[in-house]
Amino acid sequence: MTTSSSERGVSLGMPEPPAPAYPDDVRARLEADAREVIARYPDSRSALLPLLHLVQSEEGHVTRTGMRFCAEMLGLTTAEVTAVATFYTMYRRRPSGDYQVGVCTNTLCAVMGGDAIFEELQEHLGVGNGETTDDGKVTLEHIECNAACDYAPVVMVNWEFFDNQTPDSARRLVDDLRAGRPVTPTRGAPLCTFKETARILAGFPDEREGAVEAGGSAGPASLVGLKLAKGESAPARVVHPRGAASAGAPPHEPSPAEHLSSHDAPQDTSASDPAHPAGPAAEEGE
Ligand code: FES
Repeated sequence: MTTSSSERGVSLGMPEPPAPAYPDDVRARLEADAREVIARYPDSRSALLPLLHLVQSEEGHVTRTGMRFCAEMLGLTTAEVTAVATFYTMYRRRPSGDYQVGVCTNTLCAVMGGDAIFEELQEHLGVGNGETTDDGKVTLEHIECNAACDYAPVVMVNWEFFDNQTPDSARRLVDDLRAGRPVTPTRGAPLCTFKETARILAGFPDEREGAVEAGGSAGPASLVGLKLAKGESAPARVVHPRGAASAGAPPHEPSPAEHLSSHDAPQDTSASDPAHPAGPAAEEGE
């Protein structure tokens, strides 16, 4: 005896209708941008990742319409584009907030306070992982290591760094974002909206004044590893650049990576714990 799919409780569902196309004016604008991106690659399909950022910059997330557009521009199937768009977490599949607040809860940040920050923000904002506040401003997410472990715990807003956070500083940060108050990342370019960030990630220049010059790099403690890998000697000891200078040492000129953001916590997490001097560090005398 055979049973039908409905008897087995399996819904075969209806095939989804084709994704709608962009309106003509939007399509024309995106096509011009897409051709510019595609021209940078010897093989057009290599442009898929930036094109997904481009369509994300249009709607704030990667829609079926956006994936259809990418497929048409690159001569791929929508299944191929979907496979890539659903693999990488930087592509959002649902409407989201103006500001993506990503709390690093990878191992080091987690133990240095990232888990506590995430819990605090979850409770304070009333949203869970991947959810957006009612005002459409903030989407809260767990994120993986952003190679800024020497500033742990790290919060990223639209992929800009907010170093050495605490539950209190992170709560103030999201309050300011929601209230529209100015917010300054610890290093790198000034903050912009998620759509603007997506366009920059698609490979278009950041045309805001001073944005390109606003530098940022790995912290000195990270660079010690690079020095060792190059066969150079490591400093005998590291000191905290934001702390008091050693007696007799010249005044410390902070690099862009050492600038305080408007929301840096007062180093009462890692760096102030003498048993675990894991905060941003500089070579003695720098
Ligand atoms: S573990 Fe958080 S930046 Fe590396």
